Amino acid sequence: IPQRFSDLTALRGCVAGWRAAGERVVLIPTMGALHEGHLALVAEARKLGQRIVASIFVNPTQFGPNEDFARYPRDVESDLALLGRAGADAAWTPDVPTMYPPGFATRIEVGALSEGLCGPFRPGHFAGVATVVTKLLNQVRPDVALFGEKDFQQLRVIQQAVADLDLAVEIRGVPTVREPDGLALSSRNRYLSPEERAIAPRLHAVLTEIAAASRNGTPVAGRIAAGRAALEVAGFRVQYLAVCDARTLAPVERVDGPARVLAAAFLGRTRLIDNLAV
Ligand code: PAJ
Repeated sequence: IPQRFSDLTALRGCVAGWRAAGERVVLIPTMGALHEGHLALVAEARKLGQRIVASIFVNPTQFGPNEDFARYPRDVESDLALLGRAGADAAWTPDVPTMYPPGFATRIEVGALSEGLCGPFRPGHFAGVATVVTKLLNQVRPDVALFGEKDFQQLRVIQQAVADLDLAVEIRGVPTVREPDGLALSSRNRYLSPEERAIAPRLHAVLTEIAAASRNGTPVAGRIAAGRAALEVAGFRVQYLAVCDARTLAPVERVDGPARVLAAAFLGRTRLIDNLAV
């Protein structure tokens, strides 16, 4: 079981001791309800540093008023056991008043990258993410912080914020962990009914088809329209499906450099996102 901290002074004391001993510290920010995707980040962290801190904080400021903050799955005891088995040294588990005391007034807005894809469907989401991640980075002061490619736009937003604000940390992406049928692991997959769960891997299948068809510089619009139609027929409500420049996340008409195909779609009440390199 990792050492659990809910007090910032105690956490800082522990990390300062490690740093004084010359140990490299790796941070893995999470909202808990941990699964093999999160644990892949811990496994990667073990290759990159001597000390691993995982944070568990369901961040209210990144949820919209009609989103699932209240019912987001929370199970800290089981998360701690999983983190211990995976080799994390410490768990940072602040409560909401510790992160956002009365009078808290700062928000970090990352331009352009936050405006497309999930941006219009989740107003304020990436500002909430950028703000909480900046706080976590300043609280723990890791050498490296790890984020999943599963949330590719989030990864790019954080890389941009860290670069713009001169934060002295290396941000690394980790490939998406999937079920054998292709569905990306997500804490929200547990909301899916058995029927929805059976349909869910179609999202990855459609992304795979589009990625394969987009490689040689051919126009992507036709493939995207066909993929969107296939998802709607299968029962998804598609928010977006796009091929984008992997750095700027601006949509492209044909691929002529690093690109990513990204999608968000509802199955019933559950919103799924996924993406693949083209
Ligand atoms: P959460 O959804 O708990 O995810 C924590 C980290 O695990 C993120 O970096 C996410 O991309 C990664 N992750 C989730 N599913 C994954 C999968 N199937 N394969 C690989 N990595 C995966 O993302 C957040 O929390 C929050 O927005 C946070 C960054 C903690 C800020 O509140």
